[in-house]
Amino acid sequence: MSTISIPKEKLTNYVKNIFLKAGLEEEAADVTARHLVFANLRGVDSHGVTRVSIYCKRLAAGTINPHPQIRVERETPASALLHADNGIGIYSATKGMEMAIEKAKKSGIAVVGVYESNHCGMLAAYTLQAAQQDCIAMATTNAPSLIAPWGGKEPFFGTNPFSYAVPVAGGQDIVFDMATSVAARGKILLAKQNNQQIPLGWALTKDGEPTTDPNEALEGIILPVGGHKGYGLMVMVEVLSALFTGAQFGPHVGDMYKSATAQQRVGHTFIVMRADLFHDLDKFKQRMYQFVHEIKSVAKLKDTEEIYLPGELERIQYQKRAAEGIPLSRELLEDLTETAHRYGISERLI
Ligand SMILES: NC(=O)c1ccc[n+]([C@@H]2O[C@H](COP(=O)([O-])OP(=O)(O)OC[C@H]3O[C@@H](n4cnc5c(N)ncnc54)[C@H](O)[C@@H]3O)[C@@H](O)[C@H]2O)c1
Repeated sequence: MSTISIPKEKLTNYVKNIFLKAGLEEEAADVTARHLVFANLRGVDSHGVTRVSIYCKRLAAGTINPHPQIRVERETPASALLHADNGIGIYSATKGMEMAIEKAKKSGIAVVGVYESNHCGMLAAYTLQAAQQDCIAMATTNAPSLIAPWGGKEPFFGTNPFSYAVPVAGGQDIVFDMATSVAARGKILLAKQNNQQIPLGWALTKDGEPTTDPNEALEGIILPVGGHKGYGLMVMVEVLSALFTGAQFGPHVGDMYKSATAQQRVGHTFIVMRADLFHDLDKFKQRMYQFVHEIKSVAKLKDTEEIYLPGELERIQYQKRAAEGIPLSRELLEDLTETAHRYGISERLI
């Protein structure tokens, strides 16, 4: 696939400008643009600037509220429930995580739920936000239904991701972030956009047959990771993100790729605890450092060059792309340019 590298600041400013023209307020445009470019920098291209056009289409259709009044509906010193007023999901989720960190710093541990929200992108961005402030964090969100309950053949659950992050001395924070499906839908969408096949085992057609065609996969069912075990995790993510917060669940969630006008009404949950709750911070982070290095020193299989911790490959990718630029496919560049032109932006990325 032929790509062109774009420097991160240039891409961030370009995307932010599009969001401003699409009607978002300054802070929300900035936070959303930075989040998407951060996903690309970490190599999570499925949740990067490829999402700009769909967010803009939904803003243009009035399906996402550009001027939400995010409000606290219930609160204790260690918890809060935020009503996102159908605002852009990445901004609402960022506010939810900020509040969870602030509360955890005072109370030791905190949980913040967000509902009436929209697609919130790459969960690692939120848990890393907390790890960088010396907290251990978990994040969940529910998503439009694409996956059958174990044994069923109709979609019910979303790709329901889960992330955790832990601070480590030396800035080598561990951050795990996975869809509870075999692959995030964004990866299938990206394959479709780039005219690529998907690996066998990711999805079934609507008739229940294995497929490598992203179009058939998107009309059919995506498989849970690890069979019934992934299904069990998916149920937990749905409960925390939707039943607990009051968001829509299962097939009641609006699918942004199937209807421009259906509100998503998804929920997210953020659980944060101070890393120094049981032991001094330095001691904890040093032991984490030792833990990481002992893991990496384990004898390797013959074809393995290095053992990685969750999030480490993305950190390596970040360093490379921050220095060399973000490779974007010609199709994606065209898509971004088309969106920019729609708002009368004449500035060019290349
Ligand atoms: N907002 C939403 O609605 C939504 C829905 C689904 C997924 N997502 C996002 O999609 C993104 C991609 O999810 P995914 O399931 O495809 O992730 P993935 O399979 O690429 O990675 C999952 C995790 O495995 C780790 N990992 C990968 N290779 C490794 C190795 N060799 N050694 C050690 N660790 C390794 C990664 O660091 C990552 O933490 C995530 O950011 C997720 O939050 C968002």
